[in-house]
Amino acid sequence: MHGRPPPPDLVIRPETENDDDAVEAIYRVAFGPGRYSRTAYRLREGIAHDPRVSFVADRSGLVIGAIRQTAVMVGGRPAYLLGPLAVAETAAKQGIGRTLLTRSIEAAAATMADALVLVGDPAFYAPSGFEQVWDEIVMPGPVERHRLMQRPMRGRVHGRLLADPWPEVAPEPLAPREAPAAT
Ligand SMILES: CC(C)(COP(=O)(O)OP(=O)(O)OC[C@H]1O[C@@H](n2cnc3c(N)ncnc32)[C@H](O)[C@@H]1OP(=O)(O)O)[C@@H](O)C(=O)NCCC(=O)NCCS
Repeated sequence: MHGRPPPPDLVIRPETENDDDAVEAIYRVAFGPGRYSRTAYRLREGIAHDPRVSFVADRSGLVIGAIRQTAVMVGGRPAYLLGPLAVAETAAKQGIGRTLLTRSIEAAAATMADALVLVGDPAFYAPSGFEQVWDEIVMPGPVERHRLMQRPMRGRVHGRLLADPWPEVAPEPLAPREAPAAT
């Protein structure tokens, strides 16, 4: 496991509707007003995050960190768009961000998501199994391509990322770590 263990009085629990204001406040401080112009943020507008794979870090009833994931389709396969992830500045560098990330990956493993996709800092996400994908995934807006990453779960995804609902019936699973199709 990377990093230090989280503080002992910390509880990681699923986000509930009651957490919404606290979570939004953490994101507001962490990402600032410019966040709404970012492609990943815009994509999530109007789509609810999936509570099965979205968590808060709770210390004595105070939410000090949060991670959300939103179900999307990539190249016709079910995936999660992971994020936002943020930890309150006063609680930074105590292992809470990594713990939230690990918990959300574990929860996603129990779903039919083929992979997790995000736009983020490779130095932070690579130790948790995320790989830079550059142009394997086509986002519906501008992104810094070196920050586009995926973590294979049942396999790798490639193609266009769309804010579409998942199919009712799970598609045939991909082979683990399937390489992208040769072109
Ligand atoms: C990024 C963030 C969530 C990290 O949370 P945190 O609780 O301070 O992180 P942790 O204490 O769990 O640190 C985990 C690891 O990431 C490293 N790390 C932390 N922030 C990092 C960053 N911005 N870039 C690279 N590595 C980083 C730490 O050194 C640590 O390394 P280790 O696991 O090898 O020891 C937090 O700094 C934050 O909210 N930032 C603002 C919002 C943001 O940028 N979110 C991520 C979107 S890409």
